[in-house]
Amino acid sequence: MIEVRNLSKYYGSRCAVDKISFSVAEGEIVGFLGPNGAGKTTTIRVLTCFHPADDGQASVAGHDVFQKSMDVRKHVGYLPESVPLYPEMRVREYLQFRGKIRGLGRAERDAAIGRVTQRCWLSEVIDRPIGQLSKGYRQRVGLADALIHNPKVLILDEPTVGLDPGQVRETRSLIRELAQDHTVMLSSHILPEVEATCKRIIIINRGRIVASGTTAELRERVAGDHNTLAEIRGPKDGVEAGLRAITGVTDVRSEQRDGWLRVSIATRNDVREAVFQAAMKNGWSIRELRREGASLEDFFVKIVASAAAQATE
Ligand SMILES: Nc1ncnc2c1ncn2[C@@H]1O[C@H](COP(=O)(O)OP(=O)(O)OP(=O)(O)O)[C@@H](O)[C@H]1O
Ligand SMILES: [Mg+2]
Repeated sequence: MIEVRNLSKYYGSRCAVDKISFSVAEGEIVGFLGPNGAGKTTTIRVLTCFHPADDGQASVAGHDVFQKSMDVRKHVGYLPESVPLYPEMRVREYLQFRGKIRGLGRAERDAAIGRVTQRCWLSEVIDRPIGQLSKGYRQRVGLADALIHNPKVLILDEPTVGLDPGQVRETRSLIRELAQDHTVMLSSHILPEVEATCKRIIIINRGRIVASGTTAELRERVAGDHNTLAEIRGPKDGVEAGLRAITGVTDVRSEQRDGWLRVSIATRNDVREAVFQAAMKNGWSIRELRREGASLEDFFVKIVASAAAQATE
C-alpha cells in the first residue's frame, strides 16, 4: 500500500532523509519511530504530496506520489503534526467545507459527516466553533477531516502529541479501531505510543532507517544481552572479583548503598545460581537477585543517545 525506494530529501544542503526504503502492506498498522529531527515529518510530507523528494521513488495505494499526486491524495487521509483548522468555523461547517474540497456531493457529504462524527466521538461538539474546543477535540476534528473521504490509507503525524493521558488512551483506541479497515502509518518519538498501537515498527534516525520489524522481532534482536541485578552485603573488591570469576559474566559493576552493594552483572546466560553459590561460599548475604532482559526502550534510547552524541561532535 505504501512503497518507498531510496528516497532522499534535502533542505538546501542539509540531508533530512537519506535513501530510505520501506513498505507498508494493505491492512497493516505501522509505527514510524524516531527522535526529534529524525526525518519522520519530512518523509510523511513526501508521501502525502506536500513536498517533492529529491531522489528515489514513492507510491501510495498504487499511485506514484510524484506523477499521480491527485490520485494519491484521493486515497490518503493525512493528519499533520499541527492540525490547521479555522477557529471561527463550527465543526459541522468545517467538515462540510472539507468534504466539498474533496469533491463529495451533498448527500454523500452528509453521510460522510455522520460517519466521521460518530467515529471520532464529535457528536457533542458538532455545532461548536472550533476555536472553543480543547486540544483533544481539535485533534479529533483533524482525524475526522482525514477520514471524510474514506481513504484507504491513513497517515498520522504524531497523533497524540499534546493530549492528556485520558485523551491519549482514547485516541490510541480510535486508531486501533480505524486500523481494522484502513492501512495506517503513524509517526511518533515515543516508543510506548508505537508499541501500544502498531504491529510493526520502522525506526528512523538522522534520516536513515536503523531497524524495522514487529515488536516481537525487535525484542528478539535486543534480547542478546542480559543483566543480572543483585544486592549483596560483602567486601566490594571481593564481591566484584568473585562474581567476575563466574563463567559467562562479562562485566561487574557495583556501588555501595545503605551498607549493601548494588551489583550489576553483565552476562550472556543465567548466572543466578552461580551468584548464589558464590555468596554461600564467601559468606556474603543476598537480599535481591533478578535477571533483566534488554528492553526495546533501552535499544531505542541507545539509538537516540548515539544520535545526540554524533550531533555534538
Ligand atoms: N522546512 C525545513 N527547512 C530546513 N530544514 C528542515 C525543514 N523541516 C525540517 N528540517 C530539518 O530536517 C530534519 C528532519 O526534520 P523532520 O521534521 O522531518 O523531523 P521529525 O522526525 O519529524 O522530528 P520531530 O519528532 O521533531 O517532529 C531536521 O534536521 C530538521 O531540522
Ligand atoms: Mg515531525
